[in-house]
Amino acid sequence: MRHLLDISDLSSDDVWQILHTAETLKAEWRQGGNAPILRGKALGMVFQKPSLRTRVSFEMAMQHLGGHALYLSPNEISLGARESVPDVARVLSRYVDAIMARTFDHQHILQLAQYSRVPVINGLSDFSHPCQALSDLFTIYEKYGRLAGLKLAYVGDGNNVAVSLAQASAKVGMSIAIASPPGFSVAPQVGAAAAAEASKQGADVVLTTDPQAAVSGADVIYTDTWTSMGQEAEAVRRRQVFPPFQVNEALVEASGNDDVIVMHCLPAHRGEEITDAVADGPHSALWDQAENRMHCQKAILALLMT
Ligand code: CP
Ligand code: NVA
Repeated sequence: MRHLLDISDLSSDDVWQILHTAETLKAEWRQGGNAPILRGKALGMVFQKPSLRTRVSFEMAMQHLGGHALYLSPNEISLGARESVPDVARVLSRYVDAIMARTFDHQHILQLAQYSRVPVINGLSDFSHPCQALSDLFTIYEKYGRLAGLKLAYVGDGNNVAVSLAQASAKVGMSIAIASPPGFSVAPQVGAAAAAEASKQGADVVLTTDPQAAVSGADVIYTDTWTSMGQEAEAVRRRQVFPPFQVNEALVEASGNDDVIVMHCLPAHRGEEITDAVADGPHSALWDQAENRMHCQKAILALLMT
């Protein structure tokens, strides 16, 4: 693994290596702190969009591992505007030991990797959010002790998070059903590629417009915002289409599973894609899920930078 750009680039073994490393580093941290395996190393973090979890979890991960993180805000670099993406990659990669970037255009992530001398990590693009999905597998693995044979139901927009969850589930033999309104599904070719990968592991990928059918028998119910960063102009129209896809107590009950866990990558828009009762209720895994971003980030950094 030279970069972490998209889960489709990873093998199942890569995914499991990240999950097991996250497990080890989380246990080590809980026992008093991590060994400084990234001492003297720096991570450059380029953001074109806001962030709480990705920014802080990467920064703290670097600090806990003995290294340093540099936050480069949207105004600072103006990726592709003040300076071309290849030139940013050429220069930044002479200063730092790895680059994490959050962009609009997924091509910009790929270009950074193409022109960088050091590993590049996708910290979310319009297309995918691999660090989120890897960390989510880790959270599900912690809760259930296994991944193969489980069913995840994703209810909502077929966005970057949905794409990475479909790709990630397929790598570990977890079935996924994605329920989205017509016109808001993940791209059919992404679904088909994930389905082909999942079938090798005895799992399946279902794209549907029926949230009740999707959650039936689910071990995990997952949702995300109806309007992703960069889509703000569509927010009004999306608020009209998405209400039947709200994760509320009735939908959780429709899983038929008293032990189902509910996940959300956050930030949550309470009263839209998820209700307070669910986000703060007995099935919610939201805060463990958010914490695990940091542990999984450590694993990714350790594997790419050492
Ligand atoms: N889930 C996630 O990536 O959150 P941020 O946008 O706050 O980084
Ligand atoms: N789909 C959301 C995820 C935020 C972490 C977005 O892109 O805004």
